[in-house]
Amino acid sequence: MLGCEYPIIQTAMGWVAMPELVAASSNAGAFGFLALATAGPKEAIEMMDQTLALTDKPFGINFHMFQPGADEIVQGVIDRKIKAVSYSRSPTPEFIKAFKEAGVICIPTVGALKHALKAEQLGADALVVQGSEGGGHTGSTPTTLLLSSVLENVKIPVVAAGGFRDGSGLAASLAWGASGIAMGTRFMMTEESPVPHKTKKAYLSADIENIKITKKFDGMSHRLIFNDYIAKIDRSNPFSLFIISITSAWKYKQLTKSSYLDLMKSFFAMLKGDDLTISQSVMSANSPAIIQKAMVEGSPDEGAMPSGQVAGLISNLPTCKDLIDQIMKEFSFAAANFKKIEKDSS
Ligand SMILES: Cc1cc2nc3c(=O)[nH]c(=O)nc-3n(C[C@H](O)[C@H](O)[C@H](O)COP(=O)(O)O)c2cc1C
Repeated sequence: MLGCEYPIIQTAMGWVAMPELVAASSNAGAFGFLALATAGPKEAIEMMDQTLALTDKPFGINFHMFQPGADEIVQGVIDRKIKAVSYSRSPTPEFIKAFKEAGVICIPTVGALKHALKAEQLGADALVVQGSEGGGHTGSTPTTLLLSSVLENVKIPVVAAGGFRDGSGLAASLAWGASGIAMGTRFMMTEESPVPHKTKKAYLSADIENIKITKKFDGMSHRLIFNDYIAKIDRSNPFSLFIISITSAWKYKQLTKSSYLDLMKSFFAMLKGDDLTISQSVMSANSPAIIQKAMVEGSPDEGAMPSGQVAGLISNLPTCKDLIDQIMKEFSFAAANFKKIEKDSS
């Protein structure tokens, strides 16, 4: 369906799935998704063109409906005959219709069965189903359970995501009935990934137990490496979260006057013992800058590192080609094992 050589998707990751990584993934036989949800429309169009200049293999883009200039991005995709789009919040039916008429494949990422059913009903051609082990924003059901429940309930092809890194994972997902695997963290930890080396080293030394979900970073369920900064946010009480949010607002100077007003409201709400929502929304406004601190500027200790738990099992930074070749070699080994077991038991 996607026109790639192997049943492997490189997923979108803000500031990581940039043209070089996407082209390297697609050139190696996988299917890369360009992360455009964190880009403005002009930058998004430039990134599509840069990727087209680096590969003649098919690739897709990830965006979301509510970002500024989403309609320009949609038109850019259609004009450039980009193969596929991914999203986690569904575009309106008109946009989906426009994609379908232009032959663009719609392959949203979902983290819960109800979202899978809704996405199929809205016209998705296939689904990436991400279990809770996965990096970035993630749900609460582990990949194995979510995958089998979605496979039992939808008719469109399903690609498994969350916790994959090798050929045995690919074999397992196909055995389950999925059409392939989608990986974020594993592709982020490659030579072509643009993440600065100091940050890649922090990922290489992360422990599986220390890559956890917190809702306090941006108000959503977000799986991140718990460095000291994120651990402090996760442990925060209303007072300390208020202080952290003020400090980060000051540091990143991204907030409008109304956000400072919100902070004052938060302060009084905190004194009254109300909930954390306003400090939380300030943290959320700053979260892109805090992620970029680690992923773009190369300061892992001061920033946030979205990560799948699988980073705890990854100890190298191969090229995309070596990674795909290795996965397919391991897959052949697993498939030969399946055949042997079948033969022995017949
Ligand atoms: C560093 C990082 C950034 C991510 N950014 C995005 C994003 O911008 N949009 C998105 O839909 N998913 C994002 N994700 C989720 C991935 O696309 C993917 O679904 C997830 O990483 C799969 O799980 P895995 O990390 O175990 O392979 C991100 C994940 C990571 C690790």
